[in-house]
Amino acid sequence: MLNLNLIDRALASPLARILSWPQSPESYLEFLAPEVGGRSIKATVKAVRQETSRAVTLVLEPNHRWNGHIAGQYVSLSVSINGRRLSRCFTISGEENGCPTVTIQSHDGGIVSSWANESVWTGDVVELSPAAGDFVLPATLPSRFLFIAGGSGITPVRALTDALVAQAYTGRVDILYYVPAKADAIFLSHLQALAASCANVQLHLVTTREHEAGNLKGHFKADHLDAIGADLAHSAAYVCGPAGLIEAVEKHWNGAGQSERLTLERFRPVQVPVAADAKGQPVLFTDSGISTTAPGRTLLDAAEGAGLTPNAGCRQGICRTCTCRKLSGQVRDIRTGELSGTGEEDIAICVSVPVTPVSIEL
Ligand SMILES: Cc1cc2nc3c(=O)[nH]c(=O)nc-3n(C[C@H](O)[C@H](O)[C@H](O)COP(=O)(O)OP(=O)(O)OC[C@H]3O[C@@H](n4cnc5c(N)ncnc54)[C@H](O)[C@@H]3O)c2cc1C
Ligand code: FES
Repeated sequence: MLNLNLIDRALASPLARILSWPQSPESYLEFLAPEVGGRSIKATVKAVRQETSRAVTLVLEPNHRWNGHIAGQYVSLSVSINGRRLSRCFTISGEENGCPTVTIQSHDGGIVSSWANESVWTGDVVELSPAAGDFVLPATLPSRFLFIAGGSGITPVRALTDALVAQAYTGRVDILYYVPAKADAIFLSHLQALAASCANVQLHLVTTREHEAGNLKGHFKADHLDAIGADLAHSAAYVCGPAGLIEAVEKHWNGAGQSERLTLERFRPVQVPVAADAKGQPVLFTDSGISTTAPGRTLLDAAEGAGLTPNAGCRQGICRTCTCRKLSGQVRDIRTGELSGTGEEDIAICVSVPVTPVSIEL
């Protein structure tokens, strides 16, 4: 077993810097032992398991820099595909023998989800961010939980349900899970087994395309809540899934005056129209010396459009992976419409559009 803390100290030593010049000691280590990594969290893919025809679970063995996670949190996973480093967020769907797992459903034309479903091998090494996110259980558990998931949105719901079962929670847990057809339901046998062994856990599968006798059907509607005996006023409700599902659930909870009891997680950013003042502002990326304009796009889009490959994860201002130093100029946060200051500060470039000429350390 490698003593990784010793390696960290060795990497930081002046001798290592001299011997590795003109490269950094970390870059040699990355090359010789990628699973140990430079200073980042590296994880080796220990196993790949097919969940459905479009979803796989990767069992990841992280190095010593991994600090664990709370059920419901996600990581930003970075991988090199065709020479390009790409980062995407994935919920930690579970843990196997101390190794976190991520479960990835493929999207047509999706680069990282296709890589995970078609090209990943055991032994591959990926990079992880520390776990983050607040789609987690509350400190004080209420008497009921209602989890609403659609498609791959079941990943945090599985993690939260497993956590409740592990702590012998006795309140009622309802899982309302929307999928096109039963064959698309990720973790179906696991969830069915939980429901069979825990009297307080109930799984309600809802199929939106192929209907089966006994299942609820169609997209989210109030009837589904009535059918499962949901009690909005006494339940902590969580929703994760496609934008349409989240929108419908949010609207229903708002209408019922229970919005504070609803926690939601989006896998895709909400597309917010960009204001006219954001169009065509000049952008200078100072480290690379690249100048471009941002025709109504975020600075992350502008950087990628100019051929740069900045770090990015969620693309919706939650993971902070894309944080860059703004040296000058003013940007608008597309989530809130708020304007930044005009001077130096750190900004999340995935949710920032320039409203004056800006220079960014990238
Ligand atoms: C906090 C968080 C947690 C997440 N957890 C999971 C998880 O546990 N499992 C999982 O499978 N995914 C999860 N995602 C989504 C994941 O990060 C990627 O967005 C998704 O895998 C697509 O990446 P891609 O590289 O394949 O697609 P890209 O190459 O980025 O996009 C290609 C095409 O796919 C579309 N697309 C991108 N993302 C989605 C999406 N989420 N739904 C539908 N179409 C999309 C794009 O519009 C585009 O047309 C999570 C996202 C966030 C923000
Ligand atoms: S990519 Fe997550 S905050 Fe920007």
